[in-house]
Amino acid sequence: MMNRQVLLVSRPKAEATLDNFKLVETPLAPLNDGELRVRNHYLSLDPYMRGRMSEAKSYAPPQSLNEVMIGGTVGEVIESRHAKFKIGDKVVGMLGWQEIGTSDGTGLYTVDASHVPLSAYLGAVGMPGVTAWYGLNRIIEPKAGETIAVSAASGAVGSVLGQLAKAAGCRAIGIAGGEDKCRYVVETLGFDACVDYKAGKLYDDLKAAAPEGIDGYFENVGGEVLNAVLPRMNAHGRMAMCGMIAGYDGEVVPMQGASLLVRSRLKMQGFIVAEHMEVWPQALKELGERVASKKLHFRESIADGLENAPEAFLGLLRGKNFGKQLVKLI
Ligand SMILES: NC(=O)c1ccc[n+]([C@@H]2O[C@H](COP(=O)([O-])OP(=O)(O)OC[C@H]3O[C@@H](n4cnc5c(N)ncnc54)[C@H](OP(=O)(O)O)[C@@H]3O)[C@@H](O)[C@H]2O)c1
Repeated sequence: MMNRQVLLVSRPKAEATLDNFKLVETPLAPLNDGELRVRNHYLSLDPYMRGRMSEAKSYAPPQSLNEVMIGGTVGEVIESRHAKFKIGDKVVGMLGWQEIGTSDGTGLYTVDASHVPLSAYLGAVGMPGVTAWYGLNRIIEPKAGETIAVSAASGAVGSVLGQLAKAAGCRAIGIAGGEDKCRYVVETLGFDACVDYKAGKLYDDLKAAAPEGIDGYFENVGGEVLNAVLPRMNAHGRMAMCGMIAGYDGEVVPMQGASLLVRSRLKMQGFIVAEHMEVWPQALKELGERVASKKLHFRESIADGLENAPEAFLGLLRGKNFGKQLVKLI
């Protein structure tokens, strides 16, 4: 039996390119005792992968060259010599950019696909959902009536953040790229307003959308967006620094107005969701219930086939995705 995999074969010098990846076919070795084999149905593409492609100092070691790209997957057990997993189990794990994963079970968990679609375990009911849950509940700590803003608002993390803020009784303001994304954020996700940063007057539009200022901000983007939001923060505002995607693939726009942190007595805290495993069970339970009861909406951009994963990933870094970016593998 053959497997198809995508390897990282070179590191980007500036922007990531298709040449950094290589699709290969490799034979599968027989399973050992204690191992299982999973046919991956969906691969998750996430911005953090851009960081792993580089050797720059980070919170996690770089992805090794000529190895299967790291990535979250959801699929079905097709062969098992493992006591805890049986054929037919649906499992979520980090099996990487490949059609078939072989595992000793480490980091793999079974999920119930009867009320929550399998793909959602990589998005709203997976790592991106927990990221939003953590930043909102543990860093921003919203109070009813406050105004909470989030960048990349139509994306995997941002879309959940705003809906949870609304459920907490807050006013939710999105920032997103383009009219279509902004319309979706308001009309489908139920945010109170959404500002299109590509329209070229972000500060003024933000002021109009949140005339009384912003109490909690969840940052996914950085750069010019952060520089427009910072002066709009209210005294004692909280800023959950989740990601800086505007700088992942190119030039970093430096933060301006650091003195506002003192003047407005702001809290600004970065976090990595994988370092807070203690909240995952509670967050996943809540997110799963909200998706099952259709109180939490999500949207997906799905590329078809492993061979299209590199192009879809580059698109994600340029905002071509609309919602959680996935690759359908079978
Ligand atoms: N700290 C953690 O533990 C953690 C965990 C998960 C994710 N994250 C971070 O959370 C952020 C969102 O991740 P996600 O998975 O939800 O991705 P996503 O929002 O589904 O997709 C990325 C979005 O970022 C926006 N974007 C891309 N380039 C941009 C640029 N130059 N300027 C402004 N916006 C840009 C695009 O939306 P627009 O079209 O609206 O610009 C794009 O659709 C990322 O920064 C990621 O690294 C952090």
